[in-house]
Amino acid sequence: MNEPFLFKLCSQFICSLIAIFALASPQVRADEPWQANPDTVARLTKQRSEFNYDEAKVPAYTLPDPLVKSDGSKVTDADDWNQTRRAELMELFRSQVYGRRPTTPYTIRFDKTAEIDDAFDGLAVGRSMSAVITVGSRSYAFPFVVFVPKKENQKVPAIVHINNRNFISLKTATTEHDPFWPVKSIVERGYATASFHTSDVDPDDKTRYADGVRSFFADGKPPPDDAWRSLSAWGWAASRVLDHLETLDVVDATQAAVVGHSRGGKTALWAACEDTRFAIAYSNNSGCGGAALSRRALGETVGRITEVFPHWFCKNFADYTGREKHLPVDQHEVMALIAPRSIYVTSADEDLWADPRGEYLSLVSASPVFRLLGIDSIADESMPAVNQPRVVGHTGYHIRSGAHNLGEQDWKWFLNFADTIVKQ
Ligand code: GCU
Repeated sequence: MNEPFLFKLCSQFICSLIAIFALASPQVRADEPWQANPDTVARLTKQRSEFNYDEAKVPAYTLPDPLVKSDGSKVTDADDWNQTRRAELMELFRSQVYGRRPTTPYTIRFDKTAEIDDAFDGLAVGRSMSAVITVGSRSYAFPFVVFVPKKENQKVPAIVHINNRNFISLKTATTEHDPFWPVKSIVERGYATASFHTSDVDPDDKTRYADGVRSFFADGKPPPDDAWRSLSAWGWAASRVLDHLETLDVVDATQAAVVGHSRGGKTALWAACEDTRFAIAYSNNSGCGGAALSRRALGETVGRITEVFPHWFCKNFADYTGREKHLPVDQHEVMALIAPRSIYVTSADEDLWADPRGEYLSLVSASPVFRLLGIDSIADESMPAVNQPRVVGHTGYHIRSGAHNLGEQDWKWFLNFADTIVKQ
């Protein structure tokens, strides 16, 4: 063997070792700024002893490398990513995790059902809308509420909020402050905002397929194993609300964020993968099937989520119960699919069910893709301390003290991040 050849061989070997180690499970140092409170670990373990909340018991894992293509070759540049690898990953997530959306042609129209012209002392116009989707002679409609700040000669960025709790009507939104969707604060910060309820699109109930938009598109036929499930259907609805925002003169729909909490956070991430018009995805406490790495199996697992919520993921996802290491993807690649656009991920200190460290690490593990695409992102494997938001380039993260929830403080930090991304 001649020397240059040997040298090349050795350096290739070293490079592959680096690539493997870069994606292997990181060691959690004793002096980490954030560690789960041992009392919380003990309390949750007592409540649900069949699940692991202990960092020390997370299995060693190696994440699939988003920059290695299915033929084993490395993604060479941004074009290669955009033209080849991104499509491969989308296909894997559609076939193995979230299911495929229908390709049935449809038309959509937006009917205004009510309006308040002087919401918040004249700060905004609020409207109740109905999105009416028509296929042939059949129609399906879902309601949403939209607020646009009254600003002259200026386009504003927008936030699409996925509501998985109680529907907040136009009237309620203007008369009662709800930290889950704090419309007044959002509008005061210069954003338009719209919200719809998940169950109005596809009932969040495994027994009610027949009443939702998935059944509507399938004309009542049962869904094939790889067909979309509720998370994807809700994400699709977020895109339809964005269609509406695009029609409003006062909104700059190229600066739109999709926001959701918990199951809504899972939805927001996948919505931004499927629809690249979203400039920002904000996942709040989304956990398993959202921001958290499946391979860590800390808190909620693939087995438990697919058993209790079979209508959320396509059938194949359940096959990885107890065998997460065989998943051809992991959730850091959801982040990678959103790159180079912006992502904000949050956790809550007591919400170990959603695996805060797994949520953070999945954002960090997408950093090689952000780098390839020429965008800065969080790459430090060490989590920030509680209540210390971290923002680097197109990514942001915070772990808030307290329980699983989306509240005023989360919104405040998220909007600070969004302000750095959108140009007002
Ligand atoms: C359950 C579920 C989670 C989900 C959460 C929510 O706890 O196990 O996966 O995120 O509900 O949506 O509130």
